[in-house]
Order: sequence, then structure tokens, then C-alpha cells
Amino acid sequence: MNDYTLEVHGCHQYDATGAISEPIYLSATYRHPGYKQSTGFDYGRVANPTRKELEDVLAKLERGKRAWALSSGMAAINMALHLLNPGDHILLSEDLYGGTVRLVNDIYKKYGVKHDYVNTADLEKTAAKLLPETKMIFIETPSNPMMRVSDIRALAKLAHENGALLAVDNTFLSPHFQKPLTLGADIVVHSATKYLCGHNDIIAGVIAIADDESDYGKNLDLYIKSEGPNLTPIDSWLLLRSIKTLGLRVERQQQNAAAIATWLKTQPNVTDVYYVGLPEHPGHELHKSQATGFGSMISFKVKTPELATALLGRLKLIAFAESLGGVESLLTFPLAQTHAEMPKELLTRTGLDDRLLRFSVGIEDVNDLIADLDQALNA
Ligand SMILES: Cc1ncc(COP(=O)(O)O)c(C=O)c1O
Repeated sequence: MNDYTLEVHGCHQYDATGAISEPIYLSATYRHPGYKQSTGFDYGRVANPTRKELEDVLAKLERGKRAWALSSGMAAINMALHLLNPGDHILLSEDLYGGTVRLVNDIYKKYGVKHDYVNTADLEKTAAKLLPETKMIFIETPSNPMMRVSDIRALAKLAHENGALLAVDNTFLSPHFQKPLTLGADIVVHSATKYLCGHNDIIAGVIAIADDESDYGKNLDLYIKSEGPNLTPIDSWLLLRSIKTLGLRVERQQQNAAAIATWLKTQPNVTDVYYVGLPEHPGHELHKSQATGFGSMISFKVKTPELATALLGRLKLIAFAESLGGVESLLTFPLAQTHAEMPKELLTRTGLDDRLLRFSVGIEDVNDLIADLDQALNA
């Protein structure tokens, strides 16, 4: 089944009523037909029919063997990091979501997991940072917020030669545009709060894997059923409904983003535009070799820090807010919001400064979006 069809129909099996929409099963526990007999659903933490439908669709969209729908993107990243043991080392993209940095620096360090950050868009530098005890490479591509592109195929090879797993945070593109498991990655995580949900109304996460018979697959099953970070049936249903329009939404958002990135480049108050869809973006060709779309995340720098903060207060249509991926356009000031707790050293290394703004382009009329940016930039 192709993605558009899969997104709309999922794995939906009609029940006796013929309901087109997947039912929401609000049941914590399930009746056994008899001793040692099960319908496949025994207890809601372990499996719920609405969530199972969602997980099956997600696994198929990512071309994985299995996926879990969890309560947040951070819950998904936390489950991936659970695969590390005390003494293990993790190598991460130096430019990535601030919450991931906080989890690694402030929590996993205490459990004896060592880490390093590196520019994973630079293969030589990444290879040089590998240690014998490196058990995971964790990347975002395009990265958040500097839009660096890392080579998923090459990094999977590098990781595997070192006996490590490659985990990819695929939030920025969604499986509609990028399928890291088909390129050699072992694990994909998502903040499903973003494009998968697309309506800025629920917090959710996904972890999908290439091999459910592997040690990491079996361990994830154990950790998730033991710890219970699963998504509720109602939020699972909302996500299923959102995924029906995933392709339509992300393609419209991408179309708007391409026009806005081109317009931003002409603006005297804008000094830099970071969008992987621009042919001059250093990762443009590599990105095209591993993804089918450029997405709709644009970062840009304005002339002065004063302009960056003043502009946020002048927006009328676009909301100054954290998060991304929804139908409503949002503008974020990463230094004070998503990356507020990023260590100074990483900010300097990546160029994330007080002139940088991150734009999550929605599905509104593009001329209205440009008009709002214009009045805010050039007031
Ligand atoms: C790239 C990326 N990964 C993970 C997360 C965390 O997801 P959540 O907020 O759903 O826990 C975010 C949140 O902004 C994100 O942008």
C-alpha cells in the first residue's frame, strides 16, 4: 500500500457495525474467553486496540517491524536512551532539540552513561569521536534549529561497524518525507506532537524499530510494558485521525515554506536563511538523496538581536510560540524557548544565537503569511 492510502485507511478492519472510523476502546482490562485464553488484549498498559491500530500504521509508515505510541516525544527518546547501560557512551548531533540535551546531560549522566556531541553532518569528525564503548549514535536530520543534514546511510554503517545503534529523531520531516529505517537506521523517534498530529492539540511520541527480534527490540518491549509510558486511547484516536491528512498537510506546508524561504532571502533585514529546500543549502543534495521532501521548517537570522525580539511582539497572524509542525504557523525564538537550557558551548559551536528565529510554516494562505512577516520585519 502506498503512503497516501496507508495514511487514510491504516490497517483498519471493519467490526460488526461497519464503522469507517476506528473505534475508541476505553477499556482498561479485557475479558478472557477461558483459562489461558486471550483475545490478544489483556490489560490496557500492555495493549489497547485503538493504540494498536495506530502503532501498526506507524510501523508501516516508517517501514519498521514495530512501533509504540507513547505519551510524548521525550518519552520516546527516553525509551531509546534506556537501551544504554552504565559505562556505555552515546554520540549525539551537537545541534538538536534542547530537551534531548537536558535528558542526556542531567539525567543519563547520573546513571553512568557517557556522552559527546559532534557535528554529525561531518562524517570524519563523527568517526573520530567514536569510542569502543559507543553504543548509540543519535541524530536529527535536518537538525533543530540549524537545519544541518547528516548522512543517514553513512552514519548507520559507521555505527554498525562500531557495534552501535543508529537512532534518528525524524520529527522535522515525518515518515511522509523521510524513512530512516530504510536507509539503515535501527531506531526512529518522533515528537508526534508535531507533524504526525499536525493540529497543535495533543502531546504524543513514537518509537519505531527496524528489527523486533533483536536484543534492542526485545528490551524496548520489556521497558515499555514495564514502565507504562503509553499513549491514551483518545489521544491515539486523535493521532490516527490526524495521520489521514498527513500527506496533504506536509506537502501544502512545504509549498508555503519554499515560497517563504525564497522571500526571506530578498529581505534586507534578514542576514541568513536556513532551509534545506534552497539549492544553496550545503546539505541540499544529500538531503535529496535520503528524503522525498524538504519539509516546512525554516530558521533565519535577522540583522540585530533587538529586531529579533521586537518582531515577535509585532506578529498578528503567526503565533510566537514553542512547538512546530501544526497547521497553524508558529515562530519560535530558540535561544529563549526550545534551546534555553542548551550549554553555551553548544550554542557557540552551532551558531544558535540571539538573532535566530525558527519558523514552522503552516497551511494558511502564503500571501497572508508573507504579509505578516513583512510588517513585523520591516515595521
Ligand atoms: C525534534 C524534537 N524532538 C523531540 C521533541 C520532544 O517532543 P515532545 O514535546 O512531544 O515531548 C521535540 C519537541 O519540541 C522536538 O522538536
